[in-house]
Amino acid sequence: MADEDEKNESVNRRQFFAKLGLGSLSIAAAGTAAFAYQFLEPNVLYEPSPVVNAGKPDRYPLDSVTLDVNSGIYIIHSQEGYFSLSAVCTHLGCLTAWKPEENRIACPCHGSKFNIDGVKTDGPAPKPLPWKRIWLNDDGDLLVDRSTDVHPLQPDSYVRV
Ligand code: FES
Repeated sequence: MADEDEKNESVNRRQFFAKLGLGSLSIAAAGTAAFAYQFLEPNVLYEPSPVVNAGKPDRYPLDSVTLDVNSGIYIIHSQEGYFSLSAVCTHLGCLTAWKPEENRIACPCHGSKFNIDGVKTDGPAPKPLPWKRIWLNDDGDLLVDRSTDVHPLQPDSYVRV
């Protein structure tokens, strides 16, 4: 009888260690699968397009400076045509604002000022506000590529309608 109890206990112990081993293997397999899934999943950062649709040109009256706060650009309708400037200050990146009473673009952070062509007239900004590529699409909307700077004298720096 004592031998049989020992045998039963030994079987139970064996079953316990077998289940423990299977449980450990299952946890290790689940961890490996989770790691493999993370490794194989594309690590992509979805950023908004740098191209902004600024709408129809007739939204912008002649001699107007319009700030698009969401995209950080100005659309300027001058005698020469439509052009676009970055509205992000070249000092430390604050969003600038058009001050019609001063006929200047001004930065609220450290006082840099720029004329309507983006040239710095005051303050610590090291560079002018960059001009951005602007063009008309097939629907007649103004498009601005915030990722592409153009020189003011380049032929595609203005849109003439
Ligand atoms: S961030 Fe514009 S002047 Fe400093």
